[in-house]
Amino acid sequence: MRMYDLIMKKRNGGVLSEEEIRYMVNGYVSGEIPDYQMSAMMMAIFFRGMNEEETWRLTMAMAESGEMLDLSDIAGVKVDKHSTGGVGDKTSLALAPMAAACGVKIAKMSGRGLGHTGGTIDKLESFAGFSTDISTRQFIRNVNEVGMAIMGQTKDLAPADKLLYALRDVTATVDHMSLIASSIMSKKLAAGADAIVLDVKTGSGAFMKKEEDAFALAREMLAIGKNAGRNVMAIVSDMDQPLGNAVGNALEVREAIETLRGRGPEDFTQLCMELGSCMLMTAGLAGCKEEALAMLHGVIEDGRALSKLAQFVKAQGGDERMVYEPELLPKASTVTLVEAPCDGYVRRILCDEVGICSLILGGGRSRKEDIIDLSVGIVLDKKVGDRVKKGEPLAYIHSNGEDKRTACEERLLKAYEIGPERRQEGPVIRGTLK
Ligand code: URA
Repeated sequence: MRMYDLIMKKRNGGVLSEEEIRYMVNGYVSGEIPDYQMSAMMMAIFFRGMNEEETWRLTMAMAESGEMLDLSDIAGVKVDKHSTGGVGDKTSLALAPMAAACGVKIAKMSGRGLGHTGGTIDKLESFAGFSTDISTRQFIRNVNEVGMAIMGQTKDLAPADKLLYALRDVTATVDHMSLIASSIMSKKLAAGADAIVLDVKTGSGAFMKKEEDAFALAREMLAIGKNAGRNVMAIVSDMDQPLGNAVGNALEVREAIETLRGRGPEDFTQLCMELGSCMLMTAGLAGCKEEALAMLHGVIEDGRALSKLAQFVKAQGGDERMVYEPELLPKASTVTLVEAPCDGYVRRILCDEVGICSLILGGGRSRKEDIIDLSVGIVLDKKVGDRVKKGEPLAYIHSNGEDKRTACEERLLKAYEIGPERRQEGPVIRGTLK
Protein backbone atom coordinates (compact mmCIF):
# COMPACT_ATOMS: atom_id res chain seq x y z
CA MET A 1 0.00 0.00 0.00
CA ARG A 2 1.26 3.52 -0.77
CA MET A 3 0.08 6.74 0.88
CA TYR A 4 0.36 8.45 -2.51
CA ASP A 5 -2.35 6.16 -3.93
CA LEU A 6 -4.64 6.78 -0.96
CA ILE A 7 -4.30 10.56 -1.31
CA MET A 8 -5.12 10.25 -5.02
CA LYS A 9 -8.12 8.01 -4.26
CA LYS A 10 -9.58 10.48 -1.77
CA ARG A 11 -8.73 13.47 -3.96
CA ASN A 12 -10.79 11.86 -6.73
CA GLY A 13 -13.74 11.29 -4.39
CA GLY A 14 -13.13 7.60 -3.59
CA VAL A 15 -14.09 5.78 -0.39
CA LEU A 16 -11.24 4.54 1.82
CA SER A 17 -11.44 1.00 3.20
CA GLU A 18 -10.83 0.03 6.82
CA GLU A 19 -7.44 -1.41 5.86
CA GLU A 20 -6.42 1.78 4.08
CA ILE A 21 -7.51 3.97 7.00
CA ARG A 22 -5.57 1.82 9.49
CA TYR A 23 -2.51 1.88 7.23
CA MET A 24 -2.51 5.69 7.10
CA VAL A 25 -3.24 6.25 10.82
CA ASN A 26 -0.68 3.72 12.07
CA GLY A 27 1.88 4.86 9.49
CA TYR A 28 1.47 8.45 10.62
CA VAL A 29 1.88 7.58 14.32
CA SER A 30 4.98 5.49 13.63
CA GLY A 31 6.53 8.31 11.59
CA GLU A 32 6.58 6.37 8.29
CA ILE A 33 4.05 8.71 6.72
CA PRO A 34 5.38 12.29 6.70
CA ASP A 35 3.43 15.43 7.65
CA TYR A 36 3.28 16.66 4.04
CA GLN A 37 1.44 13.54 2.85
CA MET A 38 -0.94 13.55 5.83
CA SER A 39 -1.61 17.26 5.26
CA ALA A 40 -2.57 16.50 1.66
CA MET A 41 -4.85 13.70 2.86
CA MET A 42 -6.55 15.97 5.43
CA MET A 43 -7.19 18.56 2.72
CA ALA A 44 -8.53 15.88 0.35
CA ILE A 45 -10.90 14.71 3.13
CA PHE A 46 -11.84 18.34 3.83
CA PHE A 47 -13.03 18.79 0.23
CA ARG A 48 -14.30 15.30 -0.57
CA GLY A 49 -15.68 14.30 2.84
CA MET A 50 -16.03 10.87 4.41
CA ASN A 51 -19.10 8.69 4.62
CA GLU A 52 -20.41 7.33 7.94
CA GLU A 53 -18.49 4.06 7.61
CA GLU A 54 -15.18 5.84 6.88
CA THR A 55 -15.72 8.24 9.81
CA TRP A 56 -16.35 5.30 12.13
CA ARG A 57 -13.24 3.45 10.87
CA LEU A 58 -11.10 6.58 11.28
CA THR A 59 -12.42 7.06 14.84
CA MET A 60 -11.62 3.49 15.84
CA ALA A 61 -8.18 3.55 14.20
CA MET A 62 -7.35 6.72 16.17
CA ALA A 63 -8.85 5.41 19.42
CA GLU A 64 -6.89 2.16 19.11
CA SER A 65 -3.64 3.91 18.18
CA GLY A 66 -2.83 4.00 21.92
CA GLU A 67 -4.04 2.80 25.30
CA MET A 68 -7.77 2.06 25.71
CA LEU A 69 -8.55 2.80 29.39
CA ASP A 70 -10.22 0.04 31.35
CA LEU A 71 -12.49 1.58 33.98
CA SER A 72 -14.12 -1.68 35.03
CA ASP A 73 -12.67 -1.27 38.55
CA ILE A 74 -15.07 1.63 39.08
CA ALA A 75 -18.45 0.48 40.33
CA GLY A 76 -21.50 1.84 38.51
CA VAL A 77 -22.03 3.64 35.22
CA LYS A 78 -19.09 5.90 34.38
CA VAL A 79 -20.05 9.09 32.57
CA ASP A 80 -17.82 11.46 30.59
CA LYS A 81 -18.84 14.79 29.12
CA HIS A 82 -17.43 16.77 26.25
CA SER A 83 -18.01 20.25 24.92
CA THR A 84 -16.90 21.24 21.43
CA GLY A 85 -15.51 24.39 23.05
CA GLY A 86 -16.34 28.03 23.42
CA VAL A 87 -15.88 31.29 25.30
CA GLY A 88 -16.75 31.39 29.01
CA ASP A 89 -17.48 27.67 28.87
CA LYS A 90 -16.83 26.68 32.49
CA THR A 91 -19.58 24.05 32.41
CA SER A 92 -17.57 21.09 33.69
CA LEU A 93 -16.56 23.02 36.84
CA ALA A 94 -20.16 23.27 38.02
CA LEU A 95 -21.79 20.37 36.21
CA ALA A 96 -19.42 17.59 37.29
CA PRO A 97 -19.82 18.26 41.07
CA MET A 98 -23.59 18.63 40.67
CA ALA A 99 -23.92 15.30 38.86
CA ALA A 100 -21.40 13.56 41.16
CA ALA A 101 -23.33 14.78 44.23
CA CYS A 102 -26.39 13.05 42.72
CA GLY A 103 -24.45 9.78 42.47
CA VAL A 104 -23.11 9.85 38.89
CA LYS A 105 -19.55 8.49 38.57
CA ILE A 106 -17.71 11.20 36.66
CA ALA A 107 -14.58 9.93 34.93
CA LYS A 108 -13.60 12.87 32.79
CA MET A 109 -10.76 13.61 30.43
CA SER A 110 -10.10 17.33 29.84
CA GLY A 111 -7.82 19.57 27.83
CA ARG A 112 -6.10 22.94 28.05
CA GLY A 113 -7.23 26.04 26.22
CA LEU A 114 -5.71 26.96 22.88
CA GLY A 115 -6.49 30.06 20.85
CA HIS A 116 -9.59 32.00 21.87
CA THR A 117 -11.26 29.10 23.73
CA GLY A 118 -10.48 28.20 27.32
CA GLY A 119 -9.71 24.76 28.74
CA THR A 120 -10.96 23.07 31.90
CA ILE A 121 -7.47 22.10 33.11
CA ASP A 122 -6.21 25.69 33.08
CA LYS A 123 -9.30 26.84 34.95
CA LEU A 124 -8.90 24.14 37.61
CA GLU A 125 -5.29 25.13 38.16
CA SER A 126 -6.64 28.38 39.66
CA PHE A 127 -6.94 26.24 42.83
CA ALA A 128 -3.44 26.37 44.34
CA GLY A 129 -1.76 22.96 44.11
CA PHE A 130 -4.42 21.35 41.92
CA SER A 131 -3.17 18.82 39.36
CA THR A 132 -4.77 16.81 36.57
CA ASP A 133 -1.48 15.05 35.98
CA ILE A 134 -2.54 11.93 37.87
CA SER A 135 -1.97 8.25 37.12
CA THR A 136 -4.75 6.07 35.78
CA ARG A 137 -4.70 4.20 39.09
CA GLN A 138 -5.25 7.39 41.10
CA PHE A 139 -7.92 8.51 38.62
CA ILE A 140 -9.84 5.27 39.20
CA ARG A 141 -9.38 5.51 42.99
CA ASN A 142 -10.65 9.09 43.06
CA VAL A 143 -13.75 8.26 41.02
CA ASN A 144 -14.49 5.40 43.41
CA GLU A 145 -13.86 7.43 46.57
CA VAL A 146 -14.98 10.96 45.65
CA GLY A 147 -17.37 10.20 42.80
CA MET A 148 -15.46 12.32 40.30
CA ALA A 149 -11.99 12.83 38.85
CA ILE A 150 -10.62 14.84 35.95
CA MET A 151 -7.35 14.00 34.25
CA GLY A 152 -5.45 15.45 31.31
CA GLN A 153 -5.09 13.53 28.08
CA THR A 154 -2.07 11.27 28.58
CA LYS A 155 0.40 10.86 25.75
CA ASP A 156 -0.73 7.25 25.42
CA LEU A 157 -4.39 8.09 24.87
CA ALA A 158 -5.35 8.37 21.18
CA PRO A 159 -1.87 9.54 20.10
CA ALA A 160 -3.01 9.58 16.46
CA ASP A 161 -5.55 12.28 17.31
CA LYS A 162 -2.96 14.32 19.18
CA LEU A 163 -0.69 14.34 16.11
CA LEU A 164 -3.50 14.86 13.64
CA TYR A 165 -5.14 17.64 15.63
CA ALA A 166 -1.85 19.58 15.77
CA LEU A 167 -1.44 19.08 12.01
CA ARG A 168 -5.01 20.16 11.24
CA ASP A 169 -4.56 23.22 13.43
CA VAL A 170 -1.85 24.55 11.11
CA THR A 171 -3.25 23.35 7.76
CA ALA A 172 -6.74 24.93 7.95
CA THR A 173 -8.45 21.53 8.23
CA VAL A 174 -9.98 21.72 11.71
CA ASP A 175 -13.53 22.74 10.90
CA HIS A 176 -14.66 19.63 9.04
CA MET A 177 -17.53 17.61 10.45
CA SER A 178 -16.13 14.07 10.07
CA LEU A 179 -12.69 15.15 11.24
CA ILE A 180 -14.08 16.86 14.35
CA ALA A 181 -16.44 13.97 15.12
CA SER A 182 -13.71 11.32 14.79
CA SER A 183 -11.21 13.44 16.76
CA ILE A 184 -13.52 14.00 19.72
CA MET A 185 -15.01 10.52 19.76
CA SER A 186 -11.64 8.73 19.43
CA LYS A 187 -10.55 10.36 22.72
CA LYS A 188 -13.87 9.71 24.42
CA LEU A 189 -13.94 6.04 23.40
CA ALA A 190 -10.31 5.53 24.47
CA ALA A 191 -11.06 7.20 27.82
CA GLY A 192 -13.32 4.26 28.67
CA ALA A 193 -16.57 5.76 30.07
CA ASP A 194 -19.82 3.80 29.58
CA ALA A 195 -21.87 6.88 28.84
CA ILE A 196 -20.94 10.12 27.09
CA VAL A 197 -22.82 13.41 27.16
CA LEU A 198 -21.91 15.81 24.35
CA ASP A 199 -22.40 19.58 24.32
CA VAL A 200 -22.18 20.71 20.70
CA LYS A 201 -21.89 24.48 20.41
CA THR A 202 -23.28 26.64 17.66
CA GLY A 203 -22.84 30.35 16.84
CA SER A 204 -20.11 32.93 16.30
CA GLY A 205 -17.80 31.50 19.00
CA ALA A 206 -18.16 27.85 17.90
CA PHE A 207 -16.59 25.68 15.21
CA MET A 208 -20.07 25.09 13.85
CA LYS A 209 -21.36 28.58 13.08
CA LYS A 210 -24.63 27.29 11.58
CA GLU A 211 -27.17 25.49 13.72
CA GLU A 212 -27.88 22.81 11.09
CA ASP A 213 -24.15 21.97 10.99
CA ALA A 214 -24.07 21.63 14.78
CA PHE A 215 -27.02 19.21 14.64
CA ALA A 216 -25.30 17.23 11.88
CA LEU A 217 -22.10 17.04 13.99
CA ALA A 218 -24.09 15.91 17.02
CA ARG A 219 -25.79 13.19 14.95
CA GLU A 220 -22.45 12.04 13.55
CA MET A 221 -20.96 11.74 17.06
CA LEU A 222 -24.06 9.96 18.39
CA ALA A 223 -23.81 7.40 15.58
CA ILE A 224 -20.14 6.74 16.40
CA GLY A 225 -20.84 6.37 20.13
CA LYS A 226 -23.74 3.99 19.56
CA ASN A 227 -21.72 1.90 17.10
CA ALA A 228 -19.14 1.52 19.87
CA GLY A 229 -21.82 0.34 22.28
CA ARG A 230 -21.79 3.44 24.50
CA ASN A 231 -24.80 5.25 25.86
CA VAL A 232 -24.67 8.73 24.30
CA MET A 233 -26.76 11.90 24.49
CA ALA A 234 -26.06 15.26 22.87
CA ILE A 235 -27.21 18.81 23.35
CA VAL A 236 -26.84 21.57 20.80
CA SER A 237 -26.33 24.83 22.72
CA ASP A 238 -25.74 28.50 22.06
CA MET A 239 -22.27 29.99 21.60
CA ASP A 240 -23.33 33.16 19.81
CA GLN A 241 -22.32 35.13 22.88
CA PRO A 242 -20.09 34.09 25.81
CA LEU A 243 -21.65 31.64 28.24
CA GLY A 244 -22.46 33.24 31.60
CA ASN A 245 -20.70 36.52 32.43
CA ALA A 246 -17.12 35.57 33.27
CA VAL A 247 -14.39 34.87 30.70
CA GLY A 248 -10.95 34.06 32.14
CA ASN A 249 -9.69 31.22 34.31
CA ALA A 250 -10.08 32.18 38.00
CA LEU A 251 -13.04 34.45 37.16
CA GLU A 252 -14.82 31.47 35.61
CA VAL A 253 -14.03 29.33 38.65
CA ARG A 254 -15.69 31.99 40.83
CA GLU A 255 -18.76 31.98 38.60
CA ALA A 256 -18.95 28.18 38.75
CA ILE A 257 -18.78 28.36 42.58
CA GLU A 258 -21.57 30.96 42.60
CA THR A 259 -23.62 28.61 40.40
CA LEU A 260 -23.09 25.76 42.85
CA ARG A 261 -24.43 28.12 45.52
CA GLY A 262 -27.56 28.67 43.40
CA ARG A 263 -26.55 32.21 42.39
CA GLY A 264 -25.17 31.62 38.89
CA PRO A 265 -26.12 33.42 35.66
CA GLU A 266 -29.36 32.17 34.14
CA ASP A 267 -28.00 30.90 30.80
CA PHE A 268 -25.14 29.01 32.45
CA THR A 269 -27.38 27.51 35.13
CA GLN A 270 -29.88 26.40 32.49
CA LEU A 271 -27.16 24.66 30.46
CA CYS A 272 -25.79 22.88 33.57
CA MET A 273 -29.29 21.68 34.45
CA GLU A 274 -29.92 20.38 30.94
CA LEU A 275 -26.58 18.57 30.67
CA GLY A 276 -26.89 17.35 34.27
CA SER A 277 -30.25 15.79 33.55
CA CYS A 278 -28.74 14.01 30.49
CA MET A 279 -25.99 12.68 32.75
CA LEU A 280 -28.41 11.39 35.36
CA MET A 281 -30.56 9.74 32.73
CA THR A 282 -27.67 8.11 30.82
CA ALA A 283 -26.34 6.83 34.17
CA GLY A 284 -29.77 5.34 34.93
CA LEU A 285 -30.16 7.40 38.12
CA ALA A 286 -33.25 9.29 36.93
CA GLY A 287 -36.10 7.96 34.85
CA CYS A 288 -37.12 11.28 33.33
CA LYS A 289 -35.97 14.88 33.02
CA GLU A 290 -38.26 16.19 35.78
CA GLU A 291 -36.87 13.67 38.26
CA ALA A 292 -33.29 14.55 37.24
CA LEU A 293 -33.91 18.29 37.59
CA ALA A 294 -35.38 17.84 41.07
CA MET A 295 -32.28 15.89 42.14
CA LEU A 296 -29.94 18.53 40.71
CA HIS A 297 -31.80 21.40 42.40
CA GLY A 298 -31.72 19.39 45.64
CA VAL A 299 -27.90 19.05 45.75
CA ILE A 300 -27.49 22.77 45.12
CA GLU A 301 -29.96 23.75 47.82
CA ASP A 302 -28.49 21.51 50.52
CA GLY A 303 -24.85 22.39 49.67
CA ARG A 304 -23.81 18.86 48.61
CA ALA A 305 -22.78 20.02 45.13
CA LEU A 306 -20.44 22.66 46.58
CA SER A 307 -18.90 20.27 49.09
CA LYS A 308 -18.40 17.74 46.24
CA LEU A 309 -16.32 20.37 44.44
CA ALA A 310 -14.26 20.88 47.60
CA GLN A 311 -13.68 17.12 48.02
CA PHE A 312 -12.64 16.81 44.38
CA VAL A 313 -10.23 19.77 44.58
CA LYS A 314 -8.64 18.35 47.73
CA ALA A 315 -8.34 14.83 46.26
CA GLN A 316 -6.33 16.24 43.34
CA GLY A 317 -3.95 18.24 45.53
CA GLY A 318 -5.74 21.60 45.46
CA ASP A 319 -6.55 24.04 48.25
CA GLU A 320 -10.21 23.35 49.03
CA ARG A 321 -10.50 26.47 51.20
CA MET A 322 -10.72 28.42 47.94
CA VAL A 323 -14.06 26.74 47.21
CA TYR A 324 -15.56 28.30 50.36
CA GLU A 325 -13.50 31.51 50.23
CA PRO A 326 -13.26 32.33 46.49
CA GLU A 327 -11.57 35.65 47.35
CA LEU A 328 -8.43 33.51 47.89
CA LEU A 329 -8.37 32.63 44.16
CA PRO A 330 -5.86 34.51 41.96
CA LYS A 331 -6.86 38.16 41.62
CA ALA A 332 -5.76 40.74 39.02
CA SER A 333 -4.25 44.02 40.21
CA THR A 334 -6.69 46.29 38.34
CA VAL A 335 -10.40 46.17 37.58
CA THR A 336 -11.51 48.64 34.89
CA LEU A 337 -15.06 49.57 34.02
CA VAL A 338 -15.91 49.63 30.29
CA GLU A 339 -18.75 52.09 29.72
CA ALA A 340 -21.44 51.94 27.03
CA PRO A 341 -20.57 54.48 24.30
CA CYS A 342 -24.26 55.24 23.53
CA ASP A 343 -27.87 54.47 24.49
CA GLY A 344 -29.58 51.43 23.00
CA TYR A 345 -29.85 47.65 23.19
CA VAL A 346 -27.02 45.16 23.03
CA ARG A 347 -27.71 43.50 19.67
CA ARG A 348 -24.65 41.31 19.36
CA ILE A 349 -21.47 40.37 21.25
CA LEU A 350 -18.80 38.87 19.00
CA CYS A 351 -18.00 35.81 20.99
CA ASP A 352 -14.59 34.92 19.61
CA GLU A 353 -13.52 38.58 19.96
CA VAL A 354 -14.24 38.41 23.71
CA GLY A 355 -12.13 35.24 23.83
CA ILE A 356 -9.32 37.09 22.05
CA CYS A 357 -9.63 39.95 24.59
CA SER A 358 -8.94 37.45 27.37
CA LEU A 359 -6.02 36.10 25.35
CA ILE A 360 -4.59 39.63 24.98
CA LEU A 361 -4.75 40.07 28.77
CA GLY A 362 -2.65 36.91 29.13
CA GLY A 363 -5.50 34.55 30.06
CA GLY A 364 -4.88 32.18 27.13
CA ARG A 365 -2.04 30.92 24.97
CA SER A 366 -1.06 31.62 21.39
CA ARG A 367 1.53 28.86 21.58
CA LYS A 368 1.38 25.66 23.59
CA GLU A 369 4.38 26.62 25.74
CA ASP A 370 2.99 30.04 26.81
CA ILE A 371 2.43 30.54 30.55
CA ILE A 372 -0.97 31.99 31.28
CA ASP A 373 -2.13 34.54 33.85
CA LEU A 374 -4.95 32.81 35.74
CA SER A 375 -6.22 36.00 37.36
CA VAL A 376 -7.14 38.08 34.30
CA GLY A 377 -10.24 38.22 32.13
CA ILE A 378 -13.51 39.96 31.48
CA VAL A 379 -16.80 40.02 33.34
CA LEU A 380 -19.67 41.03 31.09
CA ASP A 381 -22.28 43.21 32.74
CA LYS A 382 -24.57 43.45 29.70
CA LYS A 383 -25.52 40.66 27.34
CA VAL A 384 -27.58 40.39 24.15
CA GLY A 385 -31.06 41.86 24.58
CA ASP A 386 -30.09 44.11 27.54
CA ARG A 387 -30.86 47.82 27.44
CA VAL A 388 -28.01 50.25 28.17
CA LYS A 389 -27.63 53.97 28.69
CA LYS A 390 -24.49 55.86 27.64
CA GLY A 391 -21.93 55.64 30.44
CA GLU A 392 -23.47 52.57 32.09
CA PRO A 393 -21.28 49.49 32.64
CA LEU A 394 -20.92 47.12 29.69
CA ALA A 395 -18.17 45.00 31.21
CA TYR A 396 -15.26 44.93 33.65
CA ILE A 397 -11.69 44.14 32.62
CA HIS A 398 -9.52 42.36 35.19
CA SER A 399 -5.91 43.01 34.16
CA ASN A 400 -2.27 43.15 35.11
CA GLY A 401 -0.45 45.74 33.01
CA GLU A 402 -1.59 48.96 31.33
CA ASP A 403 -0.76 48.10 27.68
CA LYS A 404 -2.70 44.86 27.72
CA ARG A 405 -5.67 46.56 29.36
CA THR A 406 -5.80 49.34 26.74
CA ALA A 407 -5.58 46.85 23.85
CA CYS A 408 -8.30 44.74 25.44
CA GLU A 409 -10.62 47.69 26.06
CA GLU A 410 -10.48 48.88 22.44
CA ARG A 411 -11.23 45.42 21.14
CA LEU A 412 -13.97 44.71 23.68
CA LEU A 413 -15.85 47.88 22.74
CA LYS A 414 -15.76 46.78 19.09
CA ALA A 415 -17.10 43.34 20.05
CA TYR A 416 -20.33 44.94 21.33
CA GLU A 417 -22.93 46.02 18.78
CA ILE A 418 -25.42 48.47 20.29
CA GLY A 419 -28.47 49.60 18.30
CA PRO A 420 -31.85 51.24 18.77
CA GLU A 421 -33.93 48.09 18.40
CA ARG A 422 -33.96 45.17 20.79
CA ARG A 423 -32.76 41.86 19.38
CA GLN A 424 -33.92 38.76 21.21
CA GLU A 425 -31.08 36.42 22.07
CA GLY A 426 -31.43 32.85 20.79
CA PRO A 427 -32.39 30.10 23.26
CA VAL A 428 -29.49 28.58 25.22
CA ILE A 429 -30.59 25.03 24.41
CA ARG A 430 -31.24 24.49 20.72
CA GLY A 431 -32.08 20.82 20.98
CA THR A 432 -31.42 17.47 22.67
CA LEU A 433 -30.60 14.32 20.70
CA LYS A 434 -30.23 10.69 21.65
N1 URA B 1 -12.06 19.37 19.61
C1 URA B 1 -11.37 18.23 19.34
O1 URA B 1 -10.99 17.52 20.25
N2 URA B 1 -11.14 17.93 18.07
C2 URA B 1 -11.55 18.68 17.03
O2 URA B 1 -11.30 18.33 15.89
C3 URA B 1 -12.26 19.87 17.33
C4 URA B 1 -12.50 20.19 18.63
